[in-house]
Amino acid sequence: MVTELTYTENIFAGTRAELLAKISQQLKPKRFKHVQRVEQTAITLAKRNAVDLEKASIAGLVHDYAKQRPDEDFITAIKQYHLDPMLLDYGNAIWHGVVGAELIKHELGIYDEDILNAVRHHTTGAVYMSPLEQIVYMADYIEPQRDFPGVDEARQLAKTDLAKSVAFQAKHTLEYLVENGKPVYPKSIDTYNAWVPQYPTI
Ligand SMILES: [Fe+2]
Ligand SMILES: [Fe+2]
Repeated sequence: MVTELTYTENIFAGTRAELLAKISQQLKPKRFKHVQRVEQTAITLAKRNAVDLEKASIAGLVHDYAKQRPDEDFITAIKQYHLDPMLLDYGNAIWHGVVGAELIKHELGIYDEDILNAVRHHTTGAVYMSPLEQIVYMADYIEPQRDFPGVDEARQLAKTDLAKSVAFQAKHTLEYLVENGKPVYPKSIDTYNAWVPQYPTI
């Protein structure tokens, strides 16, 4: 069952349908469906964790807003908004979150810092993550079409212990990057250190 929230908090200056229309202009159909699944998963997790449902809906829908933008748009934004120049050493995987949040702010007029941080941190996690940030980080990982070894365990943990599920993802994502010789964004290591040693057995 799809929950179509009626927005009342004026976080976005428009209806959910208007926000969906703006996002659909930015994303190919497959990714557009993904963000709607993340929204629904985020709403379910928000209900369980007493997090604002409208924020969960908006954050879920916008989290990949910038995913399909060309590299030049991110490079321009890093310079224009005076973001950490070290970001220039990375690529879309990092940019669509950290830099994407700035595009969301300026293009969609969404200024809620909790939502923007949820976007900024949805791929790498962060040392401190608010409940909303944890929800979006997990919803992106466990939405119904995700299929990887361990996803059922991640879904179960997210249901019962949100913080522990964050630790699970931080550990398994870092393992995946290292095993596949992929670059590790330094902040992902900070995330690992902040979350994983609390749960040595996961
Ligand atoms: Fe993403
Ligand atoms: Fe995503």
